[in-house]
Amino acid sequence: MYSDVFSLTRILLLFTLLLGAATAARAEDGYDLWLRYPPLEKDIRDQYRPQLQRLVIPKSEQSPTLKAIERELVRGVGGLLERRPVIEERISDDGFVLVATPQSSRDVRAQNFPLKSLGEEGYLIRATTIRGHKGTVVTANSERGLLYGSFHLLRLLQTRSALEGVNIETRPQIGLRVLNHWDNLDRSVERGYAGQSIWDWWNLPDILDRRYIDYARANAAIGVNGTVLNNVNASADSLTPRYLAKAAALADVFRPYGIRVYLSARFSAPVEIGGLDTADPKSPAVQRWWNEKAEEIYRYIPDFGGFLVKANSEGQPGPQDYGRNHAEGANLLARALKPHGGVVMWRAFVYQQDNPEDRAKQAYSDFVPLDGQFDDNVIVQVKNGPIDFQPREPFHPMFGAMPKTPLMMEFQITKEYLGFASHLAYLGPMYEEVLRADTFAAGPGSTVAKVIDGSLHGHRLTGIAGVANIGSDRDWSGSTFNQANWYVFGRMAWDPRLGAEEVARDWLKITFSDNPVLLETGLDMMLASRQAVVDYMTPLGLAHLMATGHHYGPGPWVSDLARPEWNPAYYHRADKYGIGFDRTREGSNAVAQYASAVAARFASRNDVGDDLLLWFHHLPWDHPMPSGRDLWQELVHRYDRGVAAAQALQNQWQSLEPLIDPERFDKTARLLAVQAREAKWWRDASIAYFQSVSKRELPRGSAKPEHSLAYYQQLQFPWAPGH
Ligand code: GCU
Repeated sequence: MYSDVFSLTRILLLFTLLLGAATAARAEDGYDLWLRYPPLEKDIRDQYRPQLQRLVIPKSEQSPTLKAIERELVRGVGGLLERRPVIEERISDDGFVLVATPQSSRDVRAQNFPLKSLGEEGYLIRATTIRGHKGTVVTANSERGLLYGSFHLLRLLQTRSALEGVNIETRPQIGLRVLNHWDNLDRSVERGYAGQSIWDWWNLPDILDRRYIDYARANAAIGVNGTVLNNVNASADSLTPRYLAKAAALADVFRPYGIRVYLSARFSAPVEIGGLDTADPKSPAVQRWWNEKAEEIYRYIPDFGGFLVKANSEGQPGPQDYGRNHAEGANLLARALKPHGGVVMWRAFVYQQDNPEDRAKQAYSDFVPLDGQFDDNVIVQVKNGPIDFQPREPFHPMFGAMPKTPLMMEFQITKEYLGFASHLAYLGPMYEEVLRADTFAAGPGSTVAKVIDGSLHGHRLTGIAGVANIGSDRDWSGSTFNQANWYVFGRMAWDPRLGAEEVARDWLKITFSDNPVLLETGLDMMLASRQAVVDYMTPLGLAHLMATGHHYGPGPWVSDLARPEWNPAYYHRADKYGIGFDRTREGSNAVAQYASAVAARFASRNDVGDDLLLWFHHLPWDHPMPSGRDLWQELVHRYDRGVAAAQALQNQWQSLEPLIDPERFDKTARLLAVQAREAKWWRDASIAYFQSVSKRELPRGSAKPEHSLAYYQQLQFPWAPGH
């Protein structure tokens, strides 16, 4: 599309170091995210300046979105080029940026740009000549499209991309691109590791923190267009007038930025706040209650997006409490929202504590028989894998298996199982792995991305959700590198075909600089980081080995919790003879939930691949591995590899010190030290445990765990965050 024109001129090491020193002089605390607009390098500024001298944004009325665009462009261009663009009513000379729809500008109309296929949110950025003057046009069918296009224009500058001949046409592949905040009304955040909730519920709606605007800007910049404000483990109070007024105040702040507000709805709300004695979907009183509740919500928030619902899962109320199924429950809420244009995002993260079926199979068993029974404003929200956001899981078998029902993706951005906020784990490669996985639902090429973008089964309602890693910490996400996970979620939600590497490269340039040494090392670190976590926590397809409750640190020995599937031992099934969960036909037969080509691959020890081996197979410790090692040796090798990788991250970062500002350098360095230490803890504790079961010698060259198994088992962390 556009090329990185300047990179060639920028490889001199001397220059590199000088540049680094200049960058390092400015204090940075991470607050600015990808809305950083510090002056670009002088040679680049000089090239851009003539191209971006004047801003032309025709405003027929007092549109808040157009005002936001103007503010952002003035701030962004002014900062990056160290020269404020002039605001003009109409094009008067070269070097203009015209931001307008065909309706708002005759000049745009006259160009006859091909806008039809761009839909409501897409945009076009094009270098062009208008009435003899050379410049750049950002155009779209709507102001929202202009907003996204303007942020993209700024991204071109931040990534030092050429404007000459620029010609970008893009539209989002997925309709609902939403963050899920697991935020409680007391400002605690479930699985949040970056401070308190950014929503100051108590002081809303009177006090509007500046952060709300910056949150909206940051999301608009990456195309996020919805936010679910409250935890899926919801309090019914969120639906009371007092709290609706608070949500409405946030919706007002977000609206100019194209972001709609949604709420998690507690299924039993008619009982808890409605005074009814049932929440049965078949009860006319319950139906009336939800209809009236929806009307009330839309009085507060006219563009309310709809409800997210966790029902009959982990103790949450739901339709099954009344003998009704998930479709009957979802349709109850969907019918209340329908007249107002709202949707229901009904979660498929269900497993019953009294169901003896393999946990990995339960959601499919509950939902797939209901295919075709959901109303057309219901979309079923499915986690990426069948258990629960583990460092690696196979794709969820529901993807591709419900052709008549729109399914949306739920990724976790917060790192509940990947080292909280402290470990560096860039999740782009994980998202990419899942989105590109082939379900074979309609033959080869039926990727998960095509399921959720609606193209595989022809759905118009499409969505993707990310469980937010945002909190009140100054840097929003607890670390600079965690910001990249929020960023890549948004970019891939817009275009699920984007590669993790491409996004990481953009992010590094925007977040730090385009110094080639920094880019190369930073990319190496980011792209290796998630596999490192897999290796030191859950190698070879193992899963759910963490300690109980808070999920902090290793606990593979835990086997005495009341329900089998709460115990790590349920998942790894290690004993004297072997390890792994047999999900083939001889075992739980979870493989049968996948299309036959996929099932055959997963069921074969030889074809499944090392990454998911023990997810699907229980194997003897001396099972020969492709590496030439046996399974036991390979397991230890992977743990060692993970620890070495964590150590490497730390060393690589140290080498970048001259190129990074001190504040962000230092915080990251400290966190990487935590990670290296905890990687070793995971490795040592896990090996101590598995060795106690396998009774095998450590392979030559592999260090003995630092402490005894008993030592690791007695560690307690009652105040670990996020629980
Ligand atoms: C995980 C997580 C819970 C969360 C649940 C969910 O189990 O640990 O805190 O509520 O997922 O997604 O609903």
